[in-house]
Amino acid sequence: MLEQLESLYQQALTNLQAAPDTAALEDWYRDTLGRKGQVQLLSRQVGQLEPAQRPAFGQRINSVKNELEAAYQQRAAALKMAELEARLAAEQLDVTLPGRQQFHGRLHPASQTLRQIYRIWGDMGFQIYRSRDVETDEYNFELLNIPQHHPARDMWDTFHTTAPGIILRTHTSPGQIHAMKEYFPEPIRVILPGMCYRYEQITARSEIQFHQVEGLAVGKNINMTHLKGTLTDFARRMFGAERKVRFRANYFPFTEPSAEMDVECFLCEGSGCHLCKQTGWLEILGCGMVHPTVLRNGGYDPAVYAGFAFGMGPERIAMLKYGIEDIRYFWSNDLRFLEQF
Ligand code: PHE
Repeated sequence: MLEQLESLYQQALTNLQAAPDTAALEDWYRDTLGRKGQVQLLSRQVGQLEPAQRPAFGQRINSVKNELEAAYQQRAAALKMAELEARLAAEQLDVTLPGRQQFHGRLHPASQTLRQIYRIWGDMGFQIYRSRDVETDEYNFELLNIPQHHPARDMWDTFHTTAPGIILRTHTSPGQIHAMKEYFPEPIRVILPGMCYRYEQITARSEIQFHQVEGLAVGKNINMTHLKGTLTDFARRMFGAERKVRFRANYFPFTEPSAEMDVECFLCEGSGCHLCKQTGWLEILGCGMVHPTVLRNGGYDPAVYAGFAFGMGPERIAMLKYGIEDIRYFWSNDLRFLEQF
């Protein structure tokens, strides 16, 4: 029986080396070392041996098992490697295949313009101050020198909430009062960006919601030349030194004197067209010296302090910069428009 074992051993080794692939290897394992394999079958016949011969046979059969097991592991590893190499050689990786195109999101043109505005004012030492979209009648009107029933309220018809006296702000100017109350008696250099809301007819030039960037400088010895110089510098940085600007006297209840700043129309370059209502100019901001009453409402004594303020429309500015002819594109969510920025 020992001879039978030896020949089984030799045969198994030969078959193992001959196994061409991993599938054949698995068959070999089942037939040789499996629960019903040849080695197992032979080991069950140990009872037929003389008792004296049994230990030697048992020892040998165990070592045969271990050796075959080790030979199997080795062969399996070699076959696996060979199969991997064959696959690598056959299936070549084509590195020249073009990749799948990724969709890139981007900032809304209004956000891009806001960031440009922040950068310019930031360079000039103005800090961003956030204030709320929902305001009281007091902050939006009263403290800005617009009493109840004053005809100036017609310039800012608004949206009311169901709570009396709580409205959506019509401009960022209420932020002036918040900033003054917080910073008194320090000098102030802030811009106040945010969304504003107005109850009005939607046209190519005006929307019911739009951004504004308010600016406020308060301190001692601030005068109109600072206002003009700062805003002119802003326009040069925003639109380039060639683009003409002008200041035009105007009225606001919260500034005295008041003005509006116009930029040369991009569409007709000043000769007059439908966009600029034949004037050659487009208005981008209102401004003025902070009214003494407003300074006082913010806590600053107008005999000691003075200030200038302005409120600009980033969408109007973007229209000028990029030649956009209709303000309604900004919030109509048309990808054909948005993808151009
Ligand atoms: N709040 C004004 C508006 O919305 C703009 C403005 C701001 C004018 C600050 C003067 C000073 O029309």
